[in-house]
Amino acid sequence: MRNTDSAEDLALVLWEKIMNVKGKVILSMLIVSTVVVVFWEYVNSPEEFQRTHSYREEDTGRWREEGKNGDSIEELQLWDWFNPNNRPEVLTVTPWKAPIVWEGTYNTALLEKYYARQKVTVGLTVFAVGKYIEHYLQDFLESANRYFMVGHKVIFYVMMDDPSRMPVISLSPLHSLQVFAIRSEKRWQDVSMMRMKIIGEHILDHIQHEVDFLFCMDVDQVFQDNFGVETLGQLVAQLQAWWYKASPDEFTYERRELSAAYIPFGEGDFYYHAAIFGGTPIHILNLTRECFKGILQDKKRDIEAEWHDESHLNKYFLFNKPTKILSPEYCWDYHIGLPSDIRNVKIAWQTKEYNLVRNNV
Ligand SMILES: *[C@@H]1O[C@H](CO)[C@@H](O)[C@H](O)[C@H]1NC(C)=O
Repeated sequence: MRNTDSAEDLALVLWEKIMNVKGKVILSMLIVSTVVVVFWEYVNSPEEFQRTHSYREEDTGRWREEGKNGDSIEELQLWDWFNPNNRPEVLTVTPWKAPIVWEGTYNTALLEKYYARQKVTVGLTVFAVGKYIEHYLQDFLESANRYFMVGHKVIFYVMMDDPSRMPVISLSPLHSLQVFAIRSEKRWQDVSMMRMKIIGEHILDHIQHEVDFLFCMDVDQVFQDNFGVETLGQLVAQLQAWWYKASPDEFTYERRELSAAYIPFGEGDFYYHAAIFGGTPIHILNLTRECFKGILQDKKRDIEAEWHDESHLNKYFLFNKPTKILSPEYCWDYHIGLPSDIRNVKIAWQTKEYNLVRNNV
């Protein structure tokens, strides 16, 4: 306030002088002094000044302020860790300039250093109901414990219709596990679709306060190699193994206009696999809400999208482009064989024993 006071003093003195000195000169002095005071106040205002020095982190979406002694964590730039030239035989950058992460394109050492300093916690949701529990859950969790975000804090969120059948898993020290009871649906399609609603509710209730990034995965798959911090991003999608070489008009998008998941021929980028999607909690919350909205709208119209929640997911990603895409190496089906561009399988599909695990095939 001292500056304002002295400005008033100055104005008073000037006003006295105005009586006997030429008006024009005084008036311009008044204006100049006002400008000086206002500028001084602006420069000394801490909030205004600091706001211009905060920036948004590329991957976490968090705003980080530069510390007084410049102790901020350097922003991670795509080209620091990503080298698409190492895989010239495959598509590594989308038309909207998002990286498609293939084995060999990322600098693990640099990424590990960055995310260790960030002290990230990563969540992983998985649903297991009915016979899926005995068939897949243990393999999924044990392999995830071994290969998912090694060296970082991880929380597994396991949603089960019968938590008493939770297998005993010995977790590594940085990993923890939370088990939640969910209602069992009669049809597996409904389990799959209700997943969107349940994930959204849990993000709002607690997950948003517990993790920096969240992945949502199907249970009928098994980790075979490191699924690490190179996969982290605001909105992460998985290429479906059977379709990564096909063109959009061949994709099994929902093609009936009546469905909320409708994508017309001539549109679409990739066919994404609902077995793996991820991002920051806030982005996944939006994704699950929008997909569930579409599912409810379809139910009202008595239509069900061809590939259920996956059709709605593909529609969502069409309008909300993923900021990072994972190559089919991250979710491979060995029934396809092992072409040379699949260099390192991180997760493999389990044999789908549909006749055993589904009530209605
Ligand atoms: C949430 O989804 C809607 C519908 O696709 C989209 O318009 C909106 O931009 C999304 N918001 C965020 C924050 O992603």
